[in-house]
Amino acid sequence: MTSPTKVIFDTDPGVDDAMALYFALAHPAIDVVGITTTFGNVTVEQAATNALYLTAIAGKTVPVTKGVATPWVKPGEAPPAFIHGADGLGNLPSRVATTNQLDPRSSAQFIVDMARAHPGEITLVAVGPLGNLSLALKLEPTLPKLLKEVILMAGTVTEPGNVSPVAEANVWNDPHAADHVFSAGWKLTMVGLDVTHRVILPLALFKKIADHQKHIATDVLHHAVSFYADFYSGIYPHVAKIHGCFGHDVLAFIYLVNPELFTIESGGIRVATEGIANGQTMMKRKDIFHPQAGWADTPATQVCMQVQAEACNAVLEEMLMSDWLPK
Ligand code: BDR
Ligand code: CA
Repeated sequence: MTSPTKVIFDTDPGVDDAMALYFALAHPAIDVVGITTTFGNVTVEQAATNALYLTAIAGKTVPVTKGVATPWVKPGEAPPAFIHGADGLGNLPSRVATTNQLDPRSSAQFIVDMARAHPGEITLVAVGPLGNLSLALKLEPTLPKLLKEVILMAGTVTEPGNVSPVAEANVWNDPHAADHVFSAGWKLTMVGLDVTHRVILPLALFKKIADHQKHIATDVLHHAVSFYADFYSGIYPHVAKIHGCFGHDVLAFIYLVNPELFTIESGGIRVATEGIANGQTMMKRKDIFHPQAGWADTPATQVCMQVQAEACNAVLEEMLMSDWLPK
């Protein structure tokens, strides 16, 4: 038997982040060795609080760190409470007391320390704005050699953006950090809106999970997804038909464990960092000469372009219906 993949989960929980975290904690092939948090769907303080809470109520002990609070260059914006709730988890009516505490290191320092301690063993799955990863690269320029691979929920190539016609939220939130990450030269996979908008998860699935395994963690997830599904159903008529939502972040983990469900195209990615296209992930899709500077040495990113949606739904359901929570 092969041992589970060691993963650092860089996240801004966030409802789909919570879904992704529980999928990862449930999956026997994934060993979550740390959770690094960032601003994004909520402030970084709230993101860290939520990561601590989600792990504690699921009975799991995982180090959690607090990371960057703002973008590198552009001014920060108010978090999108209308998508994830003001608390990031669909406005939970109450929380039980928990005692787990933050690891005192910054998220970037934790990433660097873990990568140095386990060279070539750690996969980094990042599903929020990319400031922690960008700062870790500045602290340790050889990070691309120390990490096994990096998988991002970020960006889009052909699918319209969700913040502007061309920008996906995680990239939009810190385009300079994203451009740095896409240019760094690791084994890098982008799981963006091209595939995450193909996989619609019905709210009914999360009710089924909560009914099947009565537990505070499944209740919290069901409550959070209910708020999130109302948002998505309010703006996408085809999502409203099943009262569902996009799973965005969980697709990064499904890619990790079931890459055969995705069709990949390889090419360099750069990010627009100003103007009307701010946050656009632009892909070099043909290996031909372009006279504009900035493209010649861009390392290849594996970009997920198509996905087997039904199979992803089935993988998610199987994992979250499994017996992964303490009685
Ligand atoms: C991404 O933005 C956030 O709102 C979600 O958590 C996801 O990571 C989708 O564009
Ligand atoms: Ca996220």
